[in-house]
Amino acid sequence: MEEKLIQEINEKTPIVDLVSEFVSLSKRGKNYMGLCPFHQEKTPSFSVSPEKNIAKCMSCGEGGTPINFYRKIKNISFEEAATALAERAGIKIKTQKQKSDPNQHYYKLMNEVANFYQFNLKNSEKGQEALKYLYQRQMDDDLILHFKMGYAPSHGDTLYQVLKDKKYSVSDMIALGVVKQSDDGSYYDLFSDRVIFPITNPKGDVVGLSGRTLNPKDQVKYINSPETVIFKKGFLLYHLYEALSEIRVSKQVILYEGFFDVISSYAAGVKNGVATMGTALTKNQSNLIKSVAPSVIIAYDGDAAGQKATDHAIPILEKERLKVEVLTIPEQMDPDDFIKSYGPEQYEMLFGEYTVDAYAFRYTYYKQGKNLSDANDMKAFRRLVMSMIQNSDASIKGFYLQKLAHDLNIPVESLEFKRQPERQEPILPKPERPMMLDKYAKAERYLIFTMLRSKKASDQIMKHLKQTDFAETITASIRLKIESYYEEHSDMDLNQFLDQLSTEQRTHMETQLLSDMFWTNQIEISEPEMEGYIQLVKEANMKRRLEYLREKINNEDNVSDILITERDQIIVSLKHKK
Ligand code: CTP
Ligand code: MN
Repeated sequence: MEEKLIQEINEKTPIVDLVSEFVSLSKRGKNYMGLCPFHQEKTPSFSVSPEKNIAKCMSCGEGGTPINFYRKIKNISFEEAATALAERAGIKIKTQKQKSDPNQHYYKLMNEVANFYQFNLKNSEKGQEALKYLYQRQMDDDLILHFKMGYAPSHGDTLYQVLKDKKYSVSDMIALGVVKQSDDGSYYDLFSDRVIFPITNPKGDVVGLSGRTLNPKDQVKYINSPETVIFKKGFLLYHLYEALSEIRVSKQVILYEGFFDVISSYAAGVKNGVATMGTALTKNQSNLIKSVAPSVIIAYDGDAAGQKATDHAIPILEKERLKVEVLTIPEQMDPDDFIKSYGPEQYEMLFGEYTVDAYAFRYTYYKQGKNLSDANDMKAFRRLVMSMIQNSDASIKGFYLQKLAHDLNIPVESLEFKRQPERQEPILPKPERPMMLDKYAKAERYLIFTMLRSKKASDQIMKHLKQTDFAETITASIRLKIESYYEEHSDMDLNQFLDQLSTEQRTHMETQLLSDMFWTNQIEISEPEMEGYIQLVKEANMKRRLEYLREKINNEDNVSDILITERDQIIVSLKHKK
């Protein structure tokens, strides 16, 4: 987006009006003041200047121009913020590629579905029973509204009929899994007689649904939307979008196992909760948390399964460099049960008294149920603790080595770390084209690597090499992804970038391109080196072309002279290069 356009958007967006949508402001002299939406405070230090048309917190420094303010408060990209504000200000943007989300029609449909279910909860006879169930679980109308709870009726194809009347495409309904087709060809709804929890993506679009049965005897407690183009459970967290403003202020995410844990906590005043949906925490979810907060508290169920899941989640969260703490709910309860049994005050107190750091949690967890005078238990306990601290900071190592030595009743000197097993060489893929020589493949990889390091280098490489100049199709496709990433971001956030890749691209990146040598050792590639690699890729291209031409000329009659000339020219240029 051009500088001038950005300026125009900022100028035509009155900052006071914009900020007022999120913060309640009062006039102080020339400026307006309010409570900062970016950190927790009791006296207002968020200052809005209509004159300069900027907003800034005098205490934490967050804020900026209208676009910057909007970007931060909505947790969206600069481009998205600028586009949204331009639209409001009636400024037409003609970007080369008006990138419209290809899934827009899916979001629209899902939104319609969620609305229909929401309507049904309040406005149908059977919905009243569902409503009663939610009231029984201590939800009030405000909560029901906040969580957009719904009810799916049990008539079989009510939703299908409604969507059909509204002219939605049947294949979309099926693609999104809300409607299914039976063997006789007729259509029916996936959810029947269930309380509905809509699930949003981090931008707030409804992308999937979960339905809870009202019948305690039902074998299946929850039914979820199947995985679809827009609903990928491992990439989503329940209530993340809805909790964003609370997360921004508290700079922390509370991670739960279940929907009702999020809901009851919200009602108890802990509003920055999110939940995975019946599956183990993934790297992508951890990355998602990191993108909104620096710190996380795991508040899984207090039973054995919950503790095991916590032990699994800790390293995944720590990999993202999140500060990780664990809240253990007493008496093996889940947070929902605890709040129901002991009330919101006790629950809030838990956060002070029962929250421990991730090491303390694991140490206790590993020790639990072990008899430390039994040889097998001793060995197992030692192994778990040693591997927990293997790569930790010296002070943590020292502390837990002492503790372990004490608990095992042995001298601390006798505790030794096992040597890390030798790293195995990654298996290189078979070259896709016979002409692909090692130095050329290496050149391509170095170039991709360089593109990841800076936008400037990336622009330069792209100027010289088209996507099709890359011999390996996988490298070529990654090259394209990098290009579009830099269209939206000025700096590379590697994790964010990796998330945008297909599994195949990602695996290739992780096993081939980002082996430790590449990324962590911060190798700089000098400009002459880079040019050398560009030349190599061009040379590889010529060789491939030459091979193709030779074969064609040898095997076909009546080959055009143009091809023969081209062949000779390539032979000359290649000689030149040597
Ligand atoms: N879940 C699921 N399918 C199931 C059971 C659970 O997808 N058959 C998911 C749901 O997202 C649920 C979470 O796993 O919220 C945690 O499961 P559980 O602890 O059993 O659910 P609760 O939230 O405790 O549900 P409730 O309080 O209604 O019993
Ligand atoms: Mn529960």
